[in-house]
Amino acid sequence: MLIFNNQNELVAYLASVSKTASSIGFVPTMGALHEGHLSLLKESETNNSITVISIFVNPTQFNNSEDLAKYPRTLEADVAKIKTVSDDIIVYAPSVEDIYHGNTISEPFDFDGLEHQMEGQFRPGHFNGVGTIVKRLFEIVKPTNAYFGEKDFQQLQIVKKMTEKEKLPVNIIGCPIFREPNGLAMSSRNERLSDTERKEAAFLYKTLQMSQKLFATKSAAEVTLWVQKAFTKHPTFELEYFQIADEATLLPCIRKSKTKKYRAFIAVFVNNIRLIDTISLN
Ligand code: PAF
Repeated sequence: MLIFNNQNELVAYLASVSKTASSIGFVPTMGALHEGHLSLLKESETNNSITVISIFVNPTQFNNSEDLAKYPRTLEADVAKIKTVSDDIIVYAPSVEDIYHGNTISEPFDFDGLEHQMEGQFRPGHFNGVGTIVKRLFEIVKPTNAYFGEKDFQQLQIVKKMTEKEKLPVNIIGCPIFREPNGLAMSSRNERLSDTERKEAAFLYKTLQMSQKLFATKSAAEVTLWVQKAFTKHPTFELEYFQIADEATLLPCIRKSKTKKYRAFIAVFVNNIRLIDTISLN
């Protein structure tokens, strides 16, 4: 398996092989890989002649220094997991210096308002960090297709918007959420949960499923109130936000429209660990 830490070496290698490759698939990650990431790799492997994965904990997208410091870094285990999908996958695991050249700051982006909702509201600067790193990685890897998980649905919409506005020649492909058997959405942050917290986190998905059921007959405001009440009674989870929004604009649903697609978005804290999840409502 080829592992690159240096972007110039990766660029030179990809330039030499891309002459004979019909397409490059790319899976950007921050490591601590789980089944969800592996499903993105499999999707890329099926549909492209070359697959590249990046493993980089991007400092500019963290608005909380404790979250950045505690973010799991497990390169060796990640490489072993990638090998279970294919030995031919190319790994790019750069240092902060290799990406930011001593200037670790984000570029400002205008995502047509998508950045002001939900995660953008509670994590100021987060999406500028995401836009900065994804754009840089696209410039380095020059992928034909790039794969993102739908758990970070807002990020997926933001990346699609950036690609469109910056006219980047890459297809952005969203892939379904992978869940643990109890329904907890797979996430690198789950590694920080205790066994009990992991079990209790089933509550998150159960609440989302219930909101989906309620939304069939109730308004977005009524469903939101129900969810907020359910969380006030819960001993472990602290609700940061629950929002029913239009999938395309991410604007809150005030009055339901039959022609729009809606989604529920949730962010909670358990013992200082932040978890997010989402479900399609119609
Ligand atoms: O979803 C993630 O893991 C990150 O936000 C991404 C897209 C790899 C950018 O750092």
